[in-house]
Amino acid sequence: MDFSSPAPAQRIVLASTKGGVGKSLLGLHLAAFAARQGWPTCLVDCDSQRCAAEWHALRPPDSPALHLVAADDPMNGVARSWSHRIPPGNRVVVIDTPAGMRAHHLTAYVRNADTLLVPMQPSVIDQRANRHFMNELSRLNEIRSGQLRVGIVLNRAKLRTLALRDLLEHPDALGAPMVGVLRESQAYSLLVGLGRSLFDYSSPKLANLLDDWQPLLAWLGWTEATQHQVTPNPQLGQAAGKPAAMSPG
Ligand SMILES: Nc1ncnc2c1ncn2[C@@H]1O[C@H](COP(=O)(O)OP(=O)(O)OP(=O)(O)O)[C@@H](O)[C@H]1O
Ligand SMILES: [Mg+2]
Repeated sequence: MDFSSPAPAQRIVLASTKGGVGKSLLGLHLAAFAARQGWPTCLVDCDSQRCAAEWHALRPPDSPALHLVAADDPMNGVARSWSHRIPPGNRVVVIDTPAGMRAHHLTAYVRNADTLLVPMQPSVIDQRANRHFMNELSRLNEIRSGQLRVGIVLNRAKLRTLALRDLLEHPDALGAPMVGVLRESQAYSLLVGLGRSLFDYSSPKLANLLDDWQPLLAWLGWTEATQHQVTPNPQLGQAAGKPAAMSPG
């Protein structure tokens, strides 16, 4: 990414109606990736569970600089002023939102945002819930005007399951482009518990997990979209790179 010329920050919001689908995990990983590139990056934690803030507090001192804004005040909820606390000069701003988000709640979070990432677990029940969310989203002004692009990330994917195979074969059923597939791995919990991310290690044991991220990073414009990245891990199948237009149900 070229940050040599002044440009507005890339603002990425993580949101879903379902809880526990990986919003915080994705958000902190994207922030960690951007920080590791040397890009001035801010992670905004808008959730009273403070998962992203706690991960940030655990980061070892030698970690690349990453600014945190903890937007939630447990007594008063999300402070309206959080967006004013994002320091100027950031090139990437990642905003983690609480569970149970409905599209009309999103307005405050997506103002000035360009990307909305919706993590989803590959299951029929989650797909139905997500489809309602996609229908609501398609009516948001920010999406209708083209200001905000939406991508779905299948997370906690279990290889060789029917649910995953069905979604990989019929990504159009999701109602928005599928821009990444991340497999389930205990490594994530272990790393997050240490204040680390996958991008802080270059162990060959983590190579498959790192490969999973390549289509999403390329979609964000953060890495070159190589052939390898467009067709990610053969175990996961053709996951990303299929542009499916956002469609009302
Ligand atoms: N790909 C994955 N493999 C294994 N564990 C994962 C993966 N993604 C997320 N998890 C774990 O699942 C749990 C929920 O993830 P996370 O907290 O990121 O979800 P969330 O959507 O932010 O949840 P909430 O809605 O409560 O804010 C965490 O324990 C996290 O470490
Ligand atoms: Mg969370």
